[in-house]
This record gives sequence, structure tokens and C-alpha cells, in this order.
Amino acid sequence: MELLVTVDEHDGEWQGARGSVSTLFSRIEMQTEGTVAVICGPTEMLGPLAHELLNRGVPRGQIFVSLERKMSCGVGKCGHCSFGSKRICIDGPVLSWWDVLNLGEEI
Ligand code: FES
Repeated sequence: MELLVTVDEHDGEWQGARGSVSTLFSRIEMQTEGTVAVICGPTEMLGPLAHELLNRGVPRGQIFVSLERKMSCGVGKCGHCSFGSKRICIDGPVLSWWDVLNLGEEI
């Protein structure tokens, strides 16, 4: 296993990669058969990374995104996490990219 790290902000001493996680994709030799990708992080990062994985041949049903940032009460009472016909706190918080696309909601 190889761990690749990138940062958005650094202290000036950082010598590693900088920028979005997707900038690291070019350094990965990815075999899509049997690959499962799990994405968590800032909501605005999820869509671009899922699209990048799709472009690299990872099937929609094998890409999972964590949407816990949409949650508030966490117990199905407030409706803050409504996403299409689902409530993220009840039906997730992890959904496949296939589910996300079929729910017709933008992340
Ligand atoms: S977080 Fe309140 S209903 Fe899901």
C-alpha cells in the first residue's frame, strides 16, 4: 500500500504534493476491475472526484461517497439532510455514486 498525501495550504516547509486529491490520480496506476473507491471530505470535493474516477473507468456502483456533512440532528427529525427521496442520516450517510445520480440531486 502506498499513501499519497496532498495539502491545500502549507507552512512553507512542506515539500510534498499541493492541490486537490485528483492531482494525485496521475501517479496512480489504477486497475478498475475490483476497485472500490470511498470518498469522504468536503462536499464540494465529492462530485469532481467521483467524476474523475468515472473517467478512469471505475463503475458508478463501486464509488461511494459519505454525505454526513449534510446532517444536522442525525436522528431523522429535522429534514436538514433530505437528499432526493432519502434522508442521509437514516439511509446513509454513505451512498453509492449510482444512488446519488439516480436521486437527481446535486451534491
Ligand atoms: S439530520 Fe435531521 S433528519 Fe437527517
